[in-house]
Amino acid sequence: MSQISFVSNDERLPEIFKAAGIKAAKLTEAEAKTLGRTSDAPAVLVLDVRPHHQLAPWVTDVQKKQPNLAIVLIVSTLDARFILEAMRTGIKECLPEPITPQALDEAVRRLVVGEQRERAGHVVAFIGAKGGVGTTTLAVNTAAALAKTAGSPPLLIDLHVARGDAALLMGAEPRFSVLDAFENLHKVDESFLSGLVEKTQSGAYVLASSARPVNVATSPTATRTLLELAARRYRITVLDVPRTDPAMLEALDPATVIAVVTSQELSAVRGAAATVATLRQRYGSQRLRVLINRYDKNGPVSAKDIAKVVGEPVACTIPSDYRVAAEAINVGRPIVSEDSRLGKALRSAAAELVNAGKATAEEQPSGMLSRLAWRRA
Ligand SMILES: Nc1ncnc2c1ncn2[C@@H]1O[C@H](COP(=O)(O)OP(=O)(O)O)[C@@H](O)[C@H]1O
Ligand SMILES: [Mg+2]
Repeated sequence: MSQISFVSNDERLPEIFKAAGIKAAKLTEAEAKTLGRTSDAPAVLVLDVRPHHQLAPWVTDVQKKQPNLAIVLIVSTLDARFILEAMRTGIKECLPEPITPQALDEAVRRLVVGEQRERAGHVVAFIGAKGGVGTTTLAVNTAAALAKTAGSPPLLIDLHVARGDAALLMGAEPRFSVLDAFENLHKVDESFLSGLVEKTQSGAYVLASSARPVNVATSPTATRTLLELAARRYRITVLDVPRTDPAMLEALDPATVIAVVTSQELSAVRGAAATVATLRQRYGSQRLRVLINRYDKNGPVSAKDIAKVVGEPVACTIPSDYRVAAEAINVGRPIVSEDSRLGKALRSAAAELVNAGKATAEEQPSGMLSRLAWRRA
């Protein structure tokens, strides 16, 4: 039996599957009813329940007999009561109109990839509450610190398609960039990805921002695909995420930890509150961590107040050291390579985030629930 099957009277659906690049076999309702009795069930069954939105008793029966079968319902709109009823039955996803190739691809991919989740590595994403708070510094130093402790070298991805500076801070001048990955995504597999990354002095690999001044639109699907690939290839992937690109913020499903970096400046704290609220709605609180960089215990806003405003505890604070930070940039060597108070704080932050990732990796919310929350926002 084909891995992906569907039941629908919508004549456009086969075309949409095709456009999404998904090989799917059409089943009649009578054939689908027998799925509870076969040892050869598909991995995913896409079931069109429009327009009546009723779960026939046979659907519940098939789901009960084939608990590993992931059922996706195609619906006209997301109705909370219907979704809850579907979830109680064990159904994993509801896909509302408009049914686009992209939406279909994402729903199916989430289920298929979700099954292989144990194999995927940790993905630690860094997002700034505001420009200049030290997001790149934290991402770079986390990757460099983990290169020494993690057993296998981590990958740092600068998701700024252009003008990112993560590679510079690593002292690397890579030939390829994240732009090459996005432009060739159809042929990017794990080995192609290994060819695009550059080994740095620290031992970590980097997939850099492009040196070419480009202006390409990124899509959540493309970004997610890249992240999933990286997570399969590398035990730890660290991301420098551009906070101004909404497509990136929607693509962080593979992240095991999402670290929001702020300072004690009022405008940064406000930015942190807004960013955390958006991310919480999309991904839940489990994976979120709030970090205060350039922390001064006599600073204008206390860590306690930041936790209150942001609505999450502060996971770590990192002291300020202008001289050490500036010197690191000048010589293109991460701060954690040297012995300093700042280096030590960055090393322990890195260790803490990876441990947090281990704890949350198993507890990611189901796609349907997190998306329902997202759509209501
Ligand atoms: N803990 C720190 N102490 C002192 N300076 C820092 C610290 N963290 C970052 N910086 C400096 O702040 C500036 C902005 O950092 P950067 O990581 O580029 O921020 P962002 O990526 O958020 O724009 C850089 O000059 C960097 O060296
Ligand atoms: Mg930056």
